[in-house]
Amino acid sequence: MELQISQITQIKKELLSIINAVKTKIEIEKGFGIDTISISKLNGKISMPELNPLIKNNPIKTPLTDKQIDSDGKERRAQLLENLQSEMMDCHKCPLGKTRTNLVFGVGNPMANLMFVGEAPGRDEDLQGEPFVGRAGQLLTKIIEAIGFKRSDVYIANVLKCRPPGNRNPLPEEITLCMQYLIKQIEIIQPKVLCALGTFAAQTLLNTKSPVGTLRGRFHEYKGIPAMVTFHPAYLLRNPNDKVKVWEDMKKVRDFLGELLQKDSNPS
Ligand code: URA
Repeated sequence: MELQISQITQIKKELLSIINAVKTKIEIEKGFGIDTISISKLNGKISMPELNPLIKNNPIKTPLTDKQIDSDGKERRAQLLENLQSEMMDCHKCPLGKTRTNLVFGVGNPMANLMFVGEAPGRDEDLQGEPFVGRAGQLLTKIIEAIGFKRSDVYIANVLKCRPPGNRNPLPEEITLCMQYLIKQIEIIQPKVLCALGTFAAQTLLNTKSPVGTLRGRFHEYKGIPAMVTFHPAYLLRNPNDKVKVWEDMKKVRDFLGELLQKDSNPS
């Protein structure tokens, strides 16, 4: 079979675009800390994602442009967050108020489109008063960067604002008492997508007892906000083979937000 020059040029073009896509994929996955890529993944078809059915069936109420042009909104939300933080700085509703060094409120962009919710502060967070600053936090920062955001673009908070002694699991009463603060944070920030990290965040936000292994990898809903569930970065430090699963979950978040932005800039 003889190929014409134009066909060869076309094949060359397609091969180049596949090579570039694979290169990008490898770079991102390396950045995220994944250093092995399975053959089946490289063999997978590289294509643009389908429009997520959740967007089709559940149009986002506040268009992204509202957030982008609303510079007052940023100040107002920052102020509301500050008020909430001052209101709770002295919280002693549960015994963790006595054992904490610092209350760990939350950090990030008050106008964030993407908000991460973790479990509770650990030792480093308790000492520094900021969520996800220890080893698990460093991995979370890599995860955030791997999907094209800076840590300062997103908002990060925990279900519990005070460290449980010895990093024990949060107790149901602690979650019930502290949850109201997280609810208010989400109300103020109005993220377009939530990402629950691990069992406690997922079960609390989604009001379910299902294990994280069955919840992860797809969008659920928290009060109309699409909520992805994925493994907690601390779990990933103990089970690095599952980084690939988290990477798959995070790509869904990245693509979902990308589609939203695209849809918002080209409303049909
Ligand atoms: N684990 C969490 O769930 N939150 C933190 O802030 C740190 C570790």
